[in-house]
Amino acid sequence: MRSFIKLTGCLAAAGALASCQSVTEVANYQVVPLPQQIVTAEQGSPFVLKSGVKIVYPQGNEDMLRNAQFLAEYLKTATGKDFAIEEGTEGKNAITLAIGQVSDNPEAYQLKVTADGVSITGSTAAGVFYGIQTLRKSLPIALGADVALPEATINDAPRFGYRGAHFDVSRHFFTVDEVKSYIDMMALHNMNRFHWHITDDQGWRIEIKKYPKLTEVGSMRDETVIGHNTGKYDGKPYGGFYTQEQAKEIVKYAADRYITVIPEIDMPGHMQAALTAYPELGCTGGPYKVWTMWGVSDNVLCAGKDSVLTFIDDVLTEIMDIFPSTYIHVGGDECPKTQWEKCPDCQKRIKALGIKGDKKHSKEEYLQSFVINHAEKFLNAHGRDMIGWDEILEGGLSPNATVMSWRGIKGGIEAAKQKHDVIMTPTDYLYFDYYQVKDTKNEPEAIGGYVPLEKVYGFDPLPEELTPEEHKYIIGVQANLWTEYIPTLSQAQYMVLPRWAALSELQWTTAAKDYDGFLSRLSRLRHWYDAEGYNYCKFVFQTPEQGEAPAADGEPQGEAK
Ligand code: ACM
Ligand code: ZN
Repeated sequence: MRSFIKLTGCLAAAGALASCQSVTEVANYQVVPLPQQIVTAEQGSPFVLKSGVKIVYPQGNEDMLRNAQFLAEYLKTATGKDFAIEEGTEGKNAITLAIGQVSDNPEAYQLKVTADGVSITGSTAAGVFYGIQTLRKSLPIALGADVALPEATINDAPRFGYRGAHFDVSRHFFTVDEVKSYIDMMALHNMNRFHWHITDDQGWRIEIKKYPKLTEVGSMRDETVIGHNTGKYDGKPYGGFYTQEQAKEIVKYAADRYITVIPEIDMPGHMQAALTAYPELGCTGGPYKVWTMWGVSDNVLCAGKDSVLTFIDDVLTEIMDIFPSTYIHVGGDECPKTQWEKCPDCQKRIKALGIKGDKKHSKEEYLQSFVINHAEKFLNAHGRDMIGWDEILEGGLSPNATVMSWRGIKGGIEAAKQKHDVIMTPTDYLYFDYYQVKDTKNEPEAIGGYVPLEKVYGFDPLPEELTPEEHKYIIGVQANLWTEYIPTLSQAQYMVLPRWAALSELQWTTAAKDYDGFLSRLSRLRHWYDAEGYNYCKFVFQTPEQGEAPAADGEPQGEAK
Protein backbone atom coordinates (compact mmCIF):
# COMPACT_ATOMS: atom_id res chain seq x y z
CA MET A 1 0.00 0.00 0.00
CA ARG A 2 1.36 3.36 -0.98
CA SER A 3 1.45 6.07 1.63
CA PHE A 4 2.82 9.56 1.67
CA ILE A 5 3.22 12.49 4.03
CA LYS A 6 0.61 15.08 3.37
CA LEU A 7 2.13 18.55 3.43
CA THR A 8 -0.16 20.77 1.42
CA GLY A 9 -2.49 22.82 3.57
CA CYS A 10 -0.38 22.28 6.68
CA LEU A 11 2.44 24.42 5.27
CA ALA A 12 0.13 27.21 4.25
CA ALA A 13 -1.93 27.14 7.39
CA ALA A 14 0.58 27.07 10.15
CA GLY A 15 4.13 26.42 9.35
CA ALA A 16 4.24 24.10 12.33
CA LEU A 17 5.13 21.29 10.02
CA ALA A 18 5.89 18.51 12.39
CA SER A 19 2.74 18.90 14.41
CA CYS A 20 0.37 18.85 11.48
CA GLN A 21 1.89 16.18 9.30
CA SER A 22 -0.57 13.35 8.85
CA VAL A 23 0.10 10.09 7.15
CA THR A 24 -2.21 9.70 4.21
CA GLU A 25 -2.84 6.30 2.73
CA VAL A 26 -4.21 5.81 -0.74
CA ALA A 27 -7.30 3.82 -1.64
CA ASN A 28 -7.12 1.24 -4.39
CA TYR A 29 -10.26 0.38 -6.37
CA GLN A 30 -8.84 -2.92 -7.63
CA VAL A 31 -10.90 -4.93 -5.18
CA VAL A 32 -12.38 -8.42 -4.96
CA PRO A 33 -14.66 -8.99 -6.76
CA LEU A 34 -13.30 -6.76 -9.50
CA PRO A 35 -15.80 -4.07 -10.53
CA GLN A 36 -16.95 -4.17 -14.15
CA GLN A 37 -15.62 -0.72 -15.03
CA ILE A 38 -13.20 1.59 -13.23
CA VAL A 39 -12.39 4.88 -14.93
CA THR A 40 -9.72 6.91 -13.17
CA ALA A 41 -8.93 10.55 -13.95
CA GLU A 42 -5.42 11.23 -15.25
CA GLN A 43 -4.91 14.44 -13.33
CA GLY A 44 -7.76 14.69 -10.88
CA SER A 45 -7.34 15.60 -7.24
CA PRO A 46 -8.19 13.00 -4.67
CA PHE A 47 -10.92 13.24 -2.10
CA VAL A 48 -9.43 12.92 1.35
CA LEU A 49 -11.34 10.80 3.81
CA LYS A 50 -10.58 12.38 7.15
CA SER A 51 -12.34 13.47 10.30
CA GLY A 52 -15.28 15.73 9.52
CA VAL A 53 -16.41 13.89 6.40
CA LYS A 54 -20.12 13.13 6.65
CA ILE A 55 -22.19 10.23 5.40
CA VAL A 56 -25.39 11.54 3.82
CA TYR A 57 -28.48 9.47 3.00
CA PRO A 58 -31.95 10.29 1.62
CA GLN A 59 -34.35 11.60 4.21
CA GLY A 60 -36.68 9.07 5.79
CA ASN A 61 -35.28 6.08 3.92
CA GLU A 62 -34.73 3.34 6.50
CA ASP A 63 -32.85 1.02 4.14
CA MET A 64 -30.46 3.78 3.22
CA LEU A 65 -30.00 4.75 6.86
CA ARG A 66 -28.97 1.16 7.52
CA ASN A 67 -26.60 1.33 4.55
CA ALA A 68 -25.12 4.52 6.01
CA GLN A 69 -24.67 2.79 9.36
CA PHE A 70 -22.87 -0.12 7.71
CA LEU A 71 -20.59 2.32 5.94
CA ALA A 72 -19.82 4.16 9.18
CA GLU A 73 -19.01 0.83 10.85
CA TYR A 74 -16.66 -0.17 8.01
CA LEU A 75 -14.96 3.23 7.99
CA LYS A 76 -14.43 2.93 11.72
CA THR A 77 -12.78 -0.47 11.23
CA ALA A 78 -10.52 0.89 8.49
CA THR A 79 -9.56 4.24 10.01
CA GLY A 80 -10.50 4.05 13.67
CA LYS A 81 -12.51 7.23 13.21
CA ASP A 82 -16.17 8.04 13.69
CA PHE A 83 -18.05 9.59 10.78
CA ALA A 84 -21.34 11.37 11.32
CA ILE A 85 -24.48 10.28 9.47
CA GLU A 86 -26.93 12.91 8.24
CA GLU A 87 -30.12 13.00 6.23
CA GLY A 88 -30.07 14.99 3.03
CA THR A 89 -28.69 15.16 -0.47
CA GLU A 90 -25.81 17.58 0.06
CA GLY A 91 -22.56 16.22 -1.30
CA LYS A 92 -19.71 18.53 -0.22
CA ASN A 93 -17.07 16.89 1.93
CA ALA A 94 -19.39 13.93 2.19
CA ILE A 95 -20.04 10.41 1.06
CA THR A 96 -23.52 10.73 -0.37
CA LEU A 97 -25.72 7.66 -0.73
CA ALA A 98 -28.56 7.82 -3.22
CA ILE A 99 -30.91 5.73 -5.31
CA GLY A 100 -31.41 6.59 -8.95
CA GLN A 101 -28.78 4.77 -10.98
CA VAL A 102 -30.47 3.85 -14.24
CA SER A 103 -29.96 0.14 -14.87
CA ASP A 104 -31.96 -3.00 -15.58
CA ASN A 105 -29.94 -4.65 -12.86
CA PRO A 106 -31.36 -4.08 -9.37
CA GLU A 107 -27.90 -4.56 -7.85
CA ALA A 108 -26.09 -2.00 -10.02
CA TYR A 109 -24.35 1.04 -8.62
CA GLN A 110 -22.09 3.89 -9.55
CA LEU A 111 -19.33 5.02 -7.22
CA LYS A 112 -18.01 8.44 -8.12
CA VAL A 113 -15.11 10.18 -6.44
CA THR A 114 -14.21 13.80 -7.04
CA ALA A 115 -12.09 16.19 -5.01
CA ASP A 116 -15.29 17.48 -3.38
CA GLY A 117 -16.85 14.24 -2.31
CA VAL A 118 -17.93 10.69 -2.97
CA SER A 119 -21.30 9.55 -4.24
CA ILE A 120 -22.66 6.03 -4.30
CA THR A 121 -25.79 5.80 -6.38
CA GLY A 122 -27.57 2.46 -6.69
CA SER A 123 -30.44 1.30 -8.83
CA THR A 124 -31.84 0.10 -5.50
CA ALA A 125 -30.66 0.17 -1.89
CA ALA A 126 -29.01 -3.21 -2.60
CA GLY A 127 -26.92 -1.61 -5.33
CA VAL A 128 -25.84 1.08 -2.85
CA PHE A 129 -24.83 -1.68 -0.43
CA TYR A 130 -22.50 -3.20 -3.06
CA GLY A 131 -21.05 0.24 -3.80
CA ILE A 132 -20.37 0.55 -0.08
CA GLN A 133 -18.65 -2.86 -0.11
CA THR A 134 -16.43 -1.72 -2.99
CA LEU A 135 -15.56 1.52 -1.21
CA ARG A 136 -14.85 -0.41 1.97
CA LYS A 137 -12.54 -2.88 0.26
CA SER A 138 -10.69 -0.12 -1.56
CA LEU A 139 -9.59 1.28 1.80
CA PRO A 140 -6.45 0.14 3.56
CA ILE A 141 -6.72 -0.78 7.21
CA ALA A 142 -4.84 2.22 8.56
CA LEU A 143 -5.94 3.33 12.00
CA GLY A 144 -5.62 7.05 12.54
CA ALA A 145 -4.61 7.81 8.95
CA ASP A 146 -6.39 9.96 6.42
CA VAL A 147 -7.13 8.17 3.16
CA ALA A 148 -6.78 9.75 -0.27
CA LEU A 149 -9.39 8.47 -2.70
CA PRO A 150 -8.19 9.06 -6.27
CA GLU A 151 -10.74 10.66 -8.57
CA ALA A 152 -12.62 7.89 -10.33
CA THR A 153 -15.94 6.64 -11.61
CA ILE A 154 -16.85 3.00 -11.07
CA ASN A 155 -19.83 1.52 -12.88
CA ASP A 156 -20.66 -1.89 -11.60
CA ALA A 157 -23.28 -4.65 -11.55
CA PRO A 158 -23.06 -8.38 -10.88
CA ARG A 159 -22.78 -11.03 -13.56
CA PHE A 160 -25.15 -13.44 -11.78
CA GLY A 161 -28.30 -12.70 -9.81
CA TYR A 162 -27.76 -15.78 -7.63
CA ARG A 163 -24.47 -15.62 -5.71
CA GLY A 164 -24.64 -18.31 -3.11
CA ALA A 165 -22.85 -19.79 -0.15
CA HIS A 166 -24.07 -22.96 1.53
CA PHE A 167 -23.64 -23.94 5.17
CA ASP A 168 -24.39 -27.35 6.68
CA VAL A 169 -25.40 -26.87 10.32
CA SER A 170 -26.58 -30.45 10.80
CA ARG A 171 -23.31 -32.37 10.92
CA HIS A 172 -22.05 -29.68 13.25
CA PHE A 173 -24.19 -27.04 14.87
CA PHE A 174 -23.33 -23.35 14.74
CA THR A 175 -24.87 -20.78 17.07
CA VAL A 176 -27.03 -17.86 15.93
CA ASP A 177 -24.08 -15.51 16.38
CA GLU A 178 -21.81 -17.80 14.37
CA VAL A 179 -24.34 -17.97 11.55
CA LYS A 180 -24.53 -14.18 11.61
CA SER A 181 -20.77 -14.01 11.33
CA TYR A 182 -20.92 -16.33 8.28
CA ILE A 183 -23.49 -13.94 6.78
CA ASP A 184 -21.19 -10.97 7.44
CA MET A 185 -18.43 -12.79 5.59
CA MET A 186 -20.82 -13.32 2.68
CA ALA A 187 -21.59 -9.60 2.58
CA LEU A 188 -17.89 -8.80 2.34
CA HIS A 189 -17.83 -10.96 -0.81
CA ASN A 190 -20.97 -9.43 -2.38
CA MET A 191 -22.95 -12.66 -2.02
CA ASN A 192 -26.71 -12.61 -1.83
CA ARG A 193 -28.06 -16.15 -1.27
CA PHE A 194 -27.44 -18.09 1.94
CA HIS A 195 -28.28 -21.76 1.39
CA TRP A 196 -28.90 -23.03 4.89
CA HIS A 197 -28.77 -26.83 5.17
CA ILE A 198 -30.74 -27.26 8.38
CA THR A 199 -31.74 -30.92 8.39
CA ASP A 200 -29.86 -34.16 7.86
CA ASP A 201 -29.30 -37.64 9.24
CA GLN A 202 -27.06 -36.35 12.05
CA GLY A 203 -29.40 -33.68 13.41
CA TRP A 204 -32.66 -31.86 12.72
CA ARG A 205 -31.97 -28.23 13.54
CA ILE A 206 -35.16 -26.21 13.01
CA GLU A 207 -38.17 -26.09 15.31
CA ILE A 208 -41.37 -27.36 13.68
CA LYS A 209 -44.29 -26.73 16.01
CA LYS A 210 -46.55 -29.45 14.60
CA TYR A 211 -43.80 -32.06 15.04
CA PRO A 212 -42.07 -31.06 18.32
CA LYS A 213 -40.06 -34.28 18.54
CA LEU A 214 -38.09 -33.26 15.43
CA THR A 215 -36.05 -31.04 17.71
CA GLU A 216 -36.76 -32.65 21.10
CA VAL A 217 -35.43 -35.97 19.81
CA GLY A 218 -34.02 -35.36 16.33
CA SER A 219 -31.64 -32.53 17.20
CA MET A 220 -29.48 -34.69 19.54
CA ARG A 221 -27.16 -37.52 18.65
CA ASP A 222 -25.74 -39.78 21.33
CA GLU A 223 -22.15 -39.33 20.19
CA THR A 224 -20.07 -38.69 17.10
CA VAL A 225 -17.78 -40.96 15.19
CA ILE A 226 -14.11 -40.03 15.40
CA GLY A 227 -12.45 -39.21 12.08
CA HIS A 228 -13.47 -40.94 8.86
CA ASN A 229 -15.92 -43.54 10.18
CA THR A 230 -13.14 -45.19 12.20
CA GLY A 231 -15.57 -47.23 14.27
CA LYS A 232 -14.49 -45.27 17.35
CA TYR A 233 -16.86 -42.77 18.95
CA ASP A 234 -16.34 -39.80 21.26
CA GLY A 235 -19.09 -40.80 23.71
CA LYS A 236 -20.38 -37.21 23.97
CA PRO A 237 -24.00 -36.31 23.26
CA TYR A 238 -24.10 -33.56 20.62
CA GLY A 239 -26.91 -31.33 19.45
CA GLY A 240 -28.53 -27.97 19.02
CA PHE A 241 -31.35 -26.34 17.09
CA TYR A 242 -32.82 -22.99 16.15
CA THR A 243 -36.21 -21.90 17.41
CA GLN A 244 -38.44 -20.37 14.77
CA GLU A 245 -37.84 -16.99 16.38
CA GLN A 246 -34.08 -17.43 16.12
CA ALA A 247 -34.38 -18.50 12.48
CA LYS A 248 -36.48 -15.40 11.78
CA GLU A 249 -33.83 -13.30 13.49
CA ILE A 250 -31.25 -14.75 11.12
CA VAL A 251 -33.53 -14.11 8.12
CA LYS A 252 -33.80 -10.46 9.17
CA TYR A 253 -30.07 -10.15 9.83
CA ALA A 254 -29.35 -11.52 6.37
CA ALA A 255 -32.03 -9.40 4.68
CA ASP A 256 -30.50 -6.27 6.21
CA ARG A 257 -27.38 -7.25 4.26
CA TYR A 258 -29.38 -7.98 1.07
CA ILE A 259 -28.97 -11.70 1.54
CA THR A 260 -31.87 -14.11 1.13
CA VAL A 261 -31.86 -17.21 3.32
CA ILE A 262 -32.84 -20.30 1.34
CA PRO A 263 -33.62 -23.14 3.76
CA GLU A 264 -33.03 -26.73 2.75
CA ILE A 265 -35.18 -29.52 4.11
CA ASP A 266 -33.40 -32.47 2.57
CA MET A 267 -35.87 -35.17 1.42
CA PRO A 268 -36.67 -38.00 0.94
CA GLY A 269 -33.16 -39.14 1.91
CA HIS A 270 -30.99 -37.68 4.66
CA MET A 271 -33.95 -38.06 7.04
CA GLN A 272 -32.66 -40.37 9.75
CA ALA A 273 -32.89 -37.70 12.46
CA ALA A 274 -36.53 -37.06 11.55
CA LEU A 275 -37.22 -40.80 11.48
CA THR A 276 -35.75 -41.14 14.96
CA ALA A 277 -38.38 -38.69 16.15
CA TYR A 278 -41.22 -40.14 14.04
CA PRO A 279 -40.30 -43.75 13.09
CA GLU A 280 -43.70 -44.30 11.50
CA LEU A 281 -42.54 -42.11 8.58
CA GLY A 282 -39.95 -44.71 7.52
CA CYS A 283 -40.42 -47.88 5.47
CA THR A 284 -39.38 -50.23 8.29
CA GLY A 285 -40.86 -48.36 11.25
CA GLY A 286 -37.50 -48.33 13.00
CA PRO A 287 -36.42 -47.92 15.70
CA TYR A 288 -33.89 -45.42 14.38
CA LYS A 289 -31.14 -43.38 16.04
CA VAL A 290 -29.97 -39.93 15.06
CA TRP A 291 -26.97 -40.97 13.02
CA THR A 292 -23.61 -40.88 14.78
CA MET A 293 -21.47 -41.55 11.72
CA TRP A 294 -20.97 -39.94 8.32
CA GLY A 295 -22.11 -41.07 4.89
CA VAL A 296 -25.40 -41.82 3.19
CA SER A 297 -27.98 -43.63 5.29
CA ASP A 298 -30.37 -46.22 3.84
CA ASN A 299 -33.08 -44.99 6.19
CA VAL A 300 -35.24 -42.63 4.17
CA LEU A 301 -38.81 -41.35 4.16
CA CYS A 302 -41.32 -43.95 2.99
CA ALA A 303 -42.68 -42.82 -0.36
CA GLY A 304 -45.72 -45.08 -0.04
CA LYS A 305 -47.32 -43.64 3.08
CA ASP A 306 -49.78 -40.76 2.82
CA SER A 307 -48.68 -39.61 6.29
CA VAL A 308 -45.27 -38.82 4.76
CA LEU A 309 -46.86 -36.55 2.16
CA THR A 310 -48.77 -34.81 4.96
CA PHE A 311 -45.51 -34.49 6.93
CA ILE A 312 -43.81 -32.87 3.93
CA ASP A 313 -46.69 -30.41 3.48
CA ASP A 314 -46.81 -29.57 7.19
CA VAL A 315 -43.07 -29.02 7.49
CA LEU A 316 -42.95 -26.92 4.31
CA THR A 317 -45.88 -24.85 5.57
CA GLU A 318 -43.96 -23.83 8.70
CA ILE A 319 -40.75 -23.39 6.72
CA MET A 320 -42.52 -21.01 4.32
CA ASP A 321 -43.78 -19.08 7.31
CA ILE A 322 -40.27 -18.64 8.69
CA PHE A 323 -38.48 -18.04 5.40
CA PRO A 324 -39.90 -15.48 2.95
CA SER A 325 -37.49 -16.68 0.23
CA THR A 326 -39.16 -17.50 -3.08
CA TYR A 327 -36.84 -20.49 -3.31
CA ILE A 328 -37.18 -23.39 -0.92
CA HIS A 329 -34.61 -26.20 -1.29
CA VAL A 330 -35.94 -29.74 -0.91
CA GLY A 331 -32.68 -31.62 -1.33
CA GLY A 332 -33.38 -34.77 -3.31
CA ASP A 333 -29.77 -35.97 -3.23
CA GLU A 334 -28.36 -39.31 -2.21
CA CYS A 335 -31.56 -41.21 -1.52
CA PRO A 336 -30.83 -44.95 -1.57
CA LYS A 337 -33.75 -46.95 -2.92
CA THR A 338 -32.93 -50.20 -1.10
CA GLN A 339 -35.81 -49.94 1.36
CA TRP A 340 -38.30 -48.74 -1.25
CA GLU A 341 -37.54 -51.86 -3.29
CA LYS A 342 -38.71 -54.04 -0.39
CA CYS A 343 -41.37 -51.85 1.21
CA PRO A 344 -44.96 -52.98 0.53
CA ASP A 345 -46.24 -49.41 0.85
CA CYS A 346 -43.73 -48.05 -1.64
CA GLN A 347 -44.40 -50.89 -4.08
CA LYS A 348 -48.14 -50.36 -3.70
CA ARG A 349 -47.67 -46.68 -4.58
CA ILE A 350 -45.59 -47.63 -7.63
CA LYS A 351 -48.40 -49.91 -8.80
CA ALA A 352 -51.12 -47.39 -8.09
CA LEU A 353 -49.30 -44.73 -10.08
CA GLY A 354 -48.66 -47.15 -12.93
CA ILE A 355 -44.91 -46.49 -12.68
CA LYS A 356 -42.75 -48.73 -14.84
CA GLY A 357 -38.98 -48.89 -14.87
CA ASP A 358 -37.21 -48.41 -18.17
CA LYS A 359 -33.67 -48.33 -19.54
CA LYS A 360 -33.12 -44.83 -18.19
CA HIS A 361 -34.52 -45.13 -14.70
CA SER A 362 -35.71 -47.72 -12.22
CA LYS A 363 -39.27 -47.58 -10.98
CA GLU A 364 -37.96 -46.46 -7.60
CA GLU A 365 -36.18 -43.51 -9.24
CA TYR A 366 -39.49 -42.54 -10.79
CA LEU A 367 -41.01 -42.90 -7.33
CA GLN A 368 -38.51 -40.33 -6.04
CA SER A 369 -39.75 -37.96 -8.74
CA PHE A 370 -43.26 -38.49 -7.42
CA VAL A 371 -42.17 -37.30 -3.95
CA ILE A 372 -40.24 -34.31 -5.29
CA ASN A 373 -43.11 -33.45 -7.65
CA HIS A 374 -45.45 -33.51 -4.69
CA ALA A 375 -43.22 -31.08 -2.78
CA GLU A 376 -42.88 -28.81 -5.80
CA LYS A 377 -46.62 -28.70 -6.43
CA PHE A 378 -47.19 -27.78 -2.81
CA LEU A 379 -44.57 -25.02 -2.91
CA ASN A 380 -45.82 -23.66 -6.25
CA ALA A 381 -49.38 -23.56 -4.91
CA HIS A 382 -48.06 -21.28 -2.18
CA GLY A 383 -46.19 -19.01 -4.57
CA ARG A 384 -42.75 -20.52 -3.94
CA ASP A 385 -40.22 -22.16 -6.25
CA MET A 386 -38.31 -25.35 -5.63
CA ILE A 387 -34.58 -26.02 -5.84
CA GLY A 388 -33.22 -29.55 -5.73
CA TRP A 389 -29.83 -31.23 -6.11
CA ASP A 390 -29.17 -32.67 -9.56
CA GLU A 391 -30.54 -36.12 -8.62
CA ILE A 392 -33.98 -34.59 -9.20
CA LEU A 393 -33.20 -35.03 -12.90
CA GLU A 394 -33.41 -38.79 -12.39
CA GLY A 395 -36.92 -39.93 -13.04
CA GLY A 396 -37.86 -36.64 -14.73
CA LEU A 397 -37.68 -33.03 -13.58
CA SER A 398 -40.59 -31.39 -11.85
CA PRO A 399 -42.10 -28.73 -14.10
CA ASN A 400 -40.57 -25.57 -12.57
CA ALA A 401 -37.63 -26.98 -10.67
CA THR A 402 -34.30 -25.20 -10.41
CA VAL A 403 -31.39 -27.64 -10.41
CA MET A 404 -28.29 -27.35 -8.28
CA SER A 405 -25.58 -29.12 -10.26
CA TRP A 406 -23.19 -30.69 -7.75
CA ARG A 407 -21.97 -33.97 -9.31
CA GLY A 408 -19.98 -32.01 -11.84
CA ILE A 409 -21.62 -29.76 -14.41
CA LYS A 410 -23.38 -32.54 -16.36
CA GLY A 411 -26.64 -32.17 -14.48
CA GLY A 412 -26.55 -28.42 -15.03
CA ILE A 413 -26.04 -28.87 -18.75
CA GLU A 414 -28.88 -31.37 -18.98
CA ALA A 415 -31.23 -29.14 -16.97
CA ALA A 416 -30.38 -26.02 -19.01
CA LYS A 417 -31.05 -27.97 -22.21
CA GLN A 418 -34.46 -28.80 -20.73
CA LYS A 419 -34.95 -25.03 -20.14
CA HIS A 420 -34.67 -25.26 -16.37
CA ASP A 421 -32.76 -22.77 -14.27
CA VAL A 422 -29.45 -24.01 -12.92
CA ILE A 423 -27.08 -23.11 -10.10
CA MET A 424 -23.56 -24.39 -10.64
CA THR A 425 -21.90 -25.90 -7.58
CA PRO A 426 -19.74 -28.80 -8.83
CA THR A 427 -17.73 -30.79 -6.28
CA ASP A 428 -14.41 -30.55 -8.10
CA TYR A 429 -14.42 -26.73 -8.14
CA LEU A 430 -16.79 -25.50 -5.46
CA TYR A 431 -16.82 -27.96 -2.57
CA PHE A 432 -14.91 -26.05 0.04
CA ASP A 433 -14.99 -28.91 2.53
CA TYR A 434 -12.27 -30.37 0.28
CA TYR A 435 -8.60 -29.68 1.02
CA GLN A 436 -7.16 -26.50 -0.46
CA VAL A 437 -3.49 -27.49 -0.26
CA LYS A 438 -1.82 -30.64 -1.48
CA ASP A 439 0.32 -31.23 1.55
CA THR A 440 -2.45 -32.10 3.99
CA LYS A 441 -0.26 -33.11 6.95
CA ASN A 442 -0.56 -29.77 8.66
CA GLU A 443 -4.10 -29.03 7.57
CA PRO A 444 -7.19 -29.49 9.70
CA GLU A 445 -8.72 -32.84 8.81
CA ALA A 446 -11.04 -32.56 5.81
CA ILE A 447 -13.31 -34.90 3.88
CA GLY A 448 -10.69 -35.39 1.15
CA GLY A 449 -10.43 -34.00 -2.38
CA TYR A 450 -8.32 -31.12 -3.54
CA VAL A 451 -9.75 -27.77 -4.62
CA PRO A 452 -6.99 -25.16 -4.56
CA LEU A 453 -7.68 -21.47 -4.96
CA GLU A 454 -6.39 -21.30 -8.53
CA LYS A 455 -8.71 -24.07 -9.59
CA VAL A 456 -11.71 -22.27 -8.09
CA TYR A 457 -10.68 -19.09 -9.86
CA GLY A 458 -10.38 -20.95 -13.16
CA PHE A 459 -13.89 -22.42 -13.11
CA ASP A 460 -16.12 -21.42 -16.00
CA PRO A 461 -19.75 -21.49 -14.88
CA LEU A 462 -21.02 -21.29 -18.47
CA PRO A 463 -20.17 -24.63 -20.14
CA GLU A 464 -19.20 -24.49 -23.79
CA GLU A 465 -21.56 -27.38 -24.47
CA LEU A 466 -24.44 -24.91 -24.09
CA THR A 467 -25.55 -22.24 -26.57
CA PRO A 468 -25.67 -18.56 -25.54
CA GLU A 469 -29.45 -18.96 -25.34
CA GLU A 470 -29.04 -21.92 -22.98
CA HIS A 471 -26.47 -20.02 -20.90
CA LYS A 472 -29.32 -17.82 -19.74
CA TYR A 473 -30.55 -20.72 -17.64
CA ILE A 474 -27.35 -20.67 -15.58
CA ILE A 475 -28.62 -18.20 -13.02
CA GLY A 476 -25.88 -18.52 -10.47
CA VAL A 477 -22.88 -20.05 -8.79
CA GLN A 478 -22.46 -21.32 -5.24
CA ALA A 479 -19.87 -23.00 -3.05
CA ASN A 480 -20.87 -25.61 -0.50
CA LEU A 481 -19.55 -26.25 2.98
CA TRP A 482 -20.42 -29.63 4.46
CA THR A 483 -19.33 -29.80 8.06
CA GLU A 484 -18.67 -33.43 8.98
CA TYR A 485 -15.06 -32.48 9.72
CA ILE A 486 -15.66 -28.82 10.57
CA PRO A 487 -16.67 -28.48 14.22
CA THR A 488 -15.96 -24.77 14.75
CA LEU A 489 -16.65 -21.45 13.06
CA SER A 490 -12.95 -20.71 12.99
CA GLN A 491 -12.37 -23.85 10.94
CA ALA A 492 -15.33 -23.03 8.69
CA GLN A 493 -13.74 -19.64 8.03
CA TYR A 494 -10.45 -21.32 7.26
CA MET A 495 -12.09 -23.60 4.70
CA VAL A 496 -13.95 -20.86 2.82
CA LEU A 497 -11.35 -18.11 3.01
CA PRO A 498 -9.77 -17.17 0.71
CA ARG A 499 -11.62 -19.51 -1.68
CA TRP A 500 -14.74 -17.36 -1.36
CA ALA A 501 -12.69 -14.53 -2.85
CA ALA A 502 -12.20 -16.56 -6.05
CA LEU A 503 -15.85 -17.63 -5.91
CA SER A 504 -16.98 -14.03 -5.64
CA GLU A 505 -15.11 -13.18 -8.83
CA LEU A 506 -16.91 -16.01 -10.65
CA GLN A 507 -20.20 -14.76 -9.29
CA TRP A 508 -19.70 -11.06 -9.90
CA THR A 509 -17.25 -10.05 -12.55
CA THR A 510 -17.17 -10.57 -16.31
CA ALA A 511 -13.55 -9.44 -16.72
CA ALA A 512 -11.14 -11.78 -18.49
CA LYS A 513 -9.37 -14.13 -16.09
CA ASP A 514 -6.10 -12.83 -14.67
CA TYR A 515 -4.95 -14.96 -11.75
CA ASP A 516 -1.96 -12.78 -10.89
CA GLY A 517 -4.16 -9.70 -10.88
CA PHE A 518 -6.62 -11.55 -8.65
CA LEU A 519 -3.83 -12.51 -6.23
CA SER A 520 -2.72 -8.93 -6.00
CA ARG A 521 -6.29 -7.80 -5.24
CA LEU A 522 -6.59 -10.64 -2.72
CA SER A 523 -3.42 -9.51 -0.94
CA ARG A 524 -5.35 -6.38 0.05
CA LEU A 525 -8.62 -8.16 0.84
CA ARG A 526 -6.76 -10.26 3.39
CA HIS A 527 -6.24 -7.11 5.47
CA TRP A 528 -10.02 -6.98 5.81
CA TYR A 529 -10.01 -10.65 6.87
CA ASP A 530 -7.47 -9.69 9.55
CA ALA A 531 -9.38 -6.59 10.60
CA GLU A 532 -12.62 -8.55 10.98
CA GLY A 533 -10.85 -11.32 12.87
CA TYR A 534 -11.56 -14.03 10.29
CA ASN A 535 -9.41 -17.13 10.20
CA TYR A 536 -8.20 -17.98 6.69
CA CYS A 537 -5.81 -20.24 4.86
CA LYS A 538 -2.53 -18.37 4.37
CA PHE A 539 -0.94 -20.83 2.00
CA VAL A 540 -1.37 -18.69 -1.08
CA PHE A 541 0.30 -15.75 0.65
CA GLN A 542 3.46 -17.66 1.53
CA THR A 543 6.76 -16.59 0.07
CA PRO A 544 8.72 -19.09 -2.05
CA GLU A 545 10.97 -19.81 0.96
CA GLN A 546 7.93 -20.83 2.97
CA GLY A 547 6.77 -23.13 0.18
CA GLU A 548 5.01 -22.04 -2.95
CA ALA A 549 1.35 -22.45 -3.68
CA PRO A 550 0.68 -25.73 -5.47
CA ALA A 551 -0.32 -25.99 -9.11
CA ALA A 552 -4.01 -26.46 -9.65
CA ASP A 553 -3.67 -29.86 -11.21
CA GLY A 554 -5.02 -32.13 -8.51
CA GLU A 555 -8.07 -34.29 -8.80
CA PRO A 556 -10.46 -34.88 -5.93
CA GLN A 557 -9.49 -38.00 -4.08
CA GLY A 558 -10.19 -39.79 -0.85
CA GLU A 559 -13.75 -40.30 0.34
CA ALA A 560 -14.97 -36.90 -0.78
CA LYS A 561 -18.41 -37.20 -2.30
C1 ACM B 1 -24.44 -33.28 -1.83
O1 ACM B 1 -23.25 -32.93 -1.74
N1 ACM B 1 -24.83 -34.43 -1.31
C2 ACM B 1 -25.42 -32.44 -2.50
ZN1 ZN C 1 -41.81 -47.37 1.99
